Formats: sequence, C-alpha cells, structure tokens
Amino acid sequence: MGAAFGQKPLGPVLHLYRSQLHPQHRQITYTKPSSKNLEPHFSVESQAFGGSALKKSSSVASTGSKRMIPLGTGRPSPEYYPWIRSLESKQFDTYSEAITKETNPPAANGHHQLALQVSTKHDDGYNLALALNYGHAHVELVHNPSYSNWDTCLTAGTTSALEIAFRIFCNRGDIVLSEKYTYPGTIKAINLVGAQMQAVDLDKAGASAIYLKEILDKWDISRGPKPTVFYTIPCGQNPTDTTQSLKRRQQILEVAEEHVLIIIEDDPYYFLRPGLCSTGADSDISADGVPSYLFLDTFGRVVRLDSTSKILAPGLRAGWVTANASIIEKFLAYQEVSTVAVSEPVQMMLYILLDDNWGHTGFFSWLDFLSQQYRIRRDLMLEACSKYLPQDICTWVPPDYGMFLWLELDWRKHPQFKDGLSCGSLSLNLLEIENNILQLALEDGVQVTKGSLFRCSKKPIEELHFRMTFAAASEQDLTQGVRIFAGSIRKEFTIY
Ligand SMILES: Cc1ncc(COP(=O)(O)O)c(C=O)c1O
Repeated sequence: MGAAFGQKPLGPVLHLYRSQLHPQHRQITYTKPSSKNLEPHFSVESQAFGGSALKKSSSVASTGSKRMIPLGTGRPSPEYYPWIRSLESKQFDTYSEAITKETNPPAANGHHQLALQVSTKHDDGYNLALALNYGHAHVELVHNPSYSNWDTCLTAGTTSALEIAFRIFCNRGDIVLSEKYTYPGTIKAINLVGAQMQAVDLDKAGASAIYLKEILDKWDISRGPKPTVFYTIPCGQNPTDTTQSLKRRQQILEVAEEHVLIIIEDDPYYFLRPGLCSTGADSDISADGVPSYLFLDTFGRVVRLDSTSKILAPGLRAGWVTANASIIEKFLAYQEVSTVAVSEPVQMMLYILLDDNWGHTGFFSWLDFLSQQYRIRRDLMLEACSKYLPQDICTWVPPDYGMFLWLELDWRKHPQFKDGLSCGSLSLNLLEIENNILQLALEDGVQVTKGSLFRCSKKPIEELHFRMTFAAASEQDLTQGVRIFAGSIRKEFTIY
C-alpha cells in the first residue's frame, strides 16, 4: 500500500465538476433543457465575490493532465503526513466488523458497525473522481433534476451551507420567508447576514401555499424589497414534524414561479421514512411517491441541502448541496475562504463506506433499517404520550416520520388564565410558564426543548409548545421521559 493515500491528496474532490464525471451520467443529464438563469438573485456581496485566486491557482496545478512540478502551493508533501500508514493499516482495522460486500447491505443481526475495509485495489490510491460520481449518481437516482446544468458539491454540513446560501442570496435588510416555526440554526444564520424573517403559517400538509402567495401578492415595499427566498424543511419539519404533501409542494412551486422565488430545500429528514427505496436492484430505487422540490422543479429554482448528520453521524460535518451550476460555483467560492473542504479523513470514511462497501443498494438498505428503528421509537413515544400526558391540555399530531413530536399546550387551562388572574402581557406570561415547565422537567431529569426557540417571528408569542425527540434516548428511557415530562406539565398546571 505504501503511500497510496498520500499520493492522491483528497482536497481536489471539491474541485471536480460534472465534466469529469462518468460519461453515463453526463449523457443522461445533457439531453434536458437548461435551468433559468438565477444570477440576478445573487446578493451584492456574492455577485462581486469569486473565491480565492490562490486556491484556484493551486487546483489548476494539481488537476491538469500534464505533470506539474509543485513549486507554487504551500502544501506539504504527503510523505510528511504522520497518519498515512496508520490510516491504511491500523486505524481502519480497529473498526470491529469489516462488513464485506457479501454481508452488505447491513447484516440482519442488528450490528451495523462502520464497514471500513481497505483492500489492495487501492494500491494506486483512491479514485476520488469515482467517489464524486457516487454523490452525483445518488442525486440522479433519487431526485433526477429535470434540467441539464445542475451540479452538486460537498459541504461541511448543512449549518455551514445555510450560512453560505444566505450570503449568496441575501443583502442586509432583506426578508426571508420561512415556516412559522423553524430550525434555530437557520434563524441565526439569516440574522448573521443582516436579513430578517417573515413567518409562513403551517398546517398538517406543511407550509401554507395560500398564505405564502398572500404575503407576496400584498407585499408592501415600505417594509423592504419583496422577498426572493423561501426557506423550507419539507420532510419531518423541525420542529413540527409535518411533511409537505405533493400537492402542497406543487402549489408552492407555482407561487415561486409567479413571484420569482428561490426555494432553499433543507431536507435532512428526507430519508428517514421506511420503504422510501426498494432494497432490491439499483434500478428499483426511485423517487416515486416521495418527490423532493429538486425533483419537481423544472426551472432550477431549488437549492437542495442534504446532510449526513441524521443518517450517518452528525460529527462527520459533511453534506452536499445540489442546484443550478452557477449557484454551486458560488458555494465553492465561499467554501474556498471558509471551510475549504470536508475533512479529508471524513471524505475517505464516506468513500469507503458508501462507494466501496455499500454501493447505492447498501446505502438505501441502511436508510430503510434506520427509518424502521425510528418508527419503532416514534410509536413508543406516541404510546407514552397517550398514556401519560394530560390530554385536556396537550395536543399533538402523530408524525409520519422524522425525529420529533411537537406538543401544543392549551395555556387557557393554566391556573393564571383559568381563574382570570392573568396580569401583564400574554406573551410574557407564556414565556414564564414555558420556562417553569422546562425547569421542572430538568429538575426531574428530562430535557425537552422550548417551542419559543423555533419561532422565526419577533411578534409576541401566542402559543405554548414543546418539542420532544424520539431519536436520542434509549427505547426504555423514551417512555420514562414522557412520563416524567407529563408530571412536570401537571405540576405547572396544578392538576394531580
Ligand atoms: C432542518 C435542519 N437543518 C440543518 C440541521 C443541521 O444539519 P448539519 O448537522 O448538517 O449542520 C438540522 C439539525 O438539527 C436541522 O434540523
């Protein structure tokens, strides 16, 4: 094996484009029409930003067909990387079970240790163009974008990708549309680039297209420029765990077309549904019945963010973004001056797991296994909720899949309101009640998340919510946790 890994630095993976892909993939996509030009959507900052000239000059040197003598880039020679040998022969061997092609997809015995087998076929070094082919082929298999000039690149996870996305599309003072309750990391990222948020109401079928249209139809430009970005979590929405219906997605795309919106599809929970993909031959894997925005979009308005955090491990800090090629170029430019690349050992782990061991079929089989596990946990939590929560106070909609259960508490049943004792503003009282319940739960040994943390509106709070997840606790603790939390709610509402 010698210096196999060292001879091919992993960095250039971010600089590979579709033109370098396997001809089979190029052939499929280039028969499609081009997307719309979305460059007019770029912020003042991103229009002027082309990334790092230094990084570009070094990647030219390392990817050209002609051998280049590297006197330009301050990158150490691989023989001076201290880990090379241990990565090859030691570190990977410490993973307890090397699952071979024969035993993949993941064994039915419930052991799913990371399959990291280093075989001699890598004597020439890892072929990262093939690794990228995997990602590209995966997107094509699952979402099959309907325009030709789509592209994809790795990200250091969705949190990082979100910040870059808002930098690309937002000027200071812009307003981004989003579901009324949303992922707090997004709220912070939007605020960080000096933009604000406008809440879009949600119902059981997800964000309301009617409300979205109404906001845009009636936009008063004294508030600022009309929004050009709609951020959405379409599947297993965090925190409400609603999943948008097909009809809802189509309606939202129509509004996006009418009002010239970019849709940022943040979809880390997409794969957590049993039966998403066949576990049979690759050709059986399809997106039938579960279309993403990327799949439905015919104009190239969608920027889709995927993450490995919920389906492999959050510590990998890895994800991928798919969009129109001009947008992907901006992502790469911003990454050149921020994250630079997904950590190379992580890229290697992903490559070995996904490409070498699992292939598409094994990966989908893993996703199916994981989804079934979450379904079991969801059912346990739902059972405990029905058994322990005071149902005259608490309501919830059983989620189809995902990781969360969103509880609504009827604050009118709280003694402060029930007895007509309330004084001060409703919002302050609700925040106080929410805090009291959280403190009681923490004292009793249960951690839940306050609903107010997910609000994207700065208007006073009028509803009382908590988010619970069935992803983290052991199956035994799930029931126990809900029982204890139910007790905290009862204490605060003085019902015994
Ligand atoms: C909707 C949503 N987006 C993004 C993230 C963060 O993803 P990552 O770990 O890839 O940064 C989360 C994590 O909870 C999330 O719920």
